[in-house]
Amino acid sequence: MVQFDIITLFPSMFESPLSEGIIRKAQKKGLLDIRVHDLREYTEDRHRTADGTPYGGGAGMVMKVEPIVRAIEAIRLPTGNTRTVFLTPQGVLLTQEKAKKLSTYSQVLILCGRYEGVDERVLSFIDEELSIGDFVLTGGEIAAMAVLDVVARLVPGVVGDAASVSEDTFSNSLLKYPQYTRPDNFRGLCVPEVLISGDHKKISEWRSLESLKRTSKRRPDLIERADLTDKEKKQLENIKGTERLE
Ligand code: ADE
Repeated sequence: MVQFDIITLFPSMFESPLSEGIIRKAQKKGLLDIRVHDLREYTEDRHRTADGTPYGGGAGMVMKVEPIVRAIEAIRLPTGNTRTVFLTPQGVLLTQEKAKKLSTYSQVLILCGRYEGVDERVLSFIDEELSIGDFVLTGGEIAAMAVLDVVARLVPGVVGDAASVSEDTFSNSLLKYPQYTRPDNFRGLCVPEVLISGDHKKISEWRSLESLKRTSKRRPDLIERADLTDKEKKQLENIKGTERLE
């Protein structure tokens, strides 16, 4: 069971993503407890001010330190083992491995940034700054949903079939093999024979070869980091040989 607390200026953005599919079921089953907090509730002035102009000048607004720290301190469980995460394009890239680590905390507290960023002093109250990719979103909310979704499905019991988590792309550092379902012929596009053969050993070999081929072509960076078996290394040599001929 993991408790997620999300601090945002736009709490209603989370309504529908949390009320569908696996995430909804996991909350019902008591495997996830997701709470969305409106940052403005932690302001203390009449106008509920959450941002200010930057010292030194420049474009845009900066999120104020006091409401954020007030929120973090009010929401953080005194006893729990909490990880406080700030979503920003300046963060380190989210990976499956980082998500796996996050799924082991009892509370994950996520701060969503908006405007030009947050007052730098907020970072003294944050454990980890994460980015979901090298692009800039209008705010941290969509990134927070991605983090929540990735971490949630790693919490034991959330995904019904544990095998589907362990067979994931990235759980062995390679991209997933191609998948098919009925019909076996769609407008002349046929399902590979081997998958219909019923020969489980052959199917498994075909899948691991296709994973290698796909990863080698699309994500050579993953191949560099992958822990390949001797057999896979040989197969990779063959793949590279045929790629050069193509
Ligand atoms: N906020 C804006 N862009 C972002 C990104 N790429 N990752 C995380 N938070 C963000």
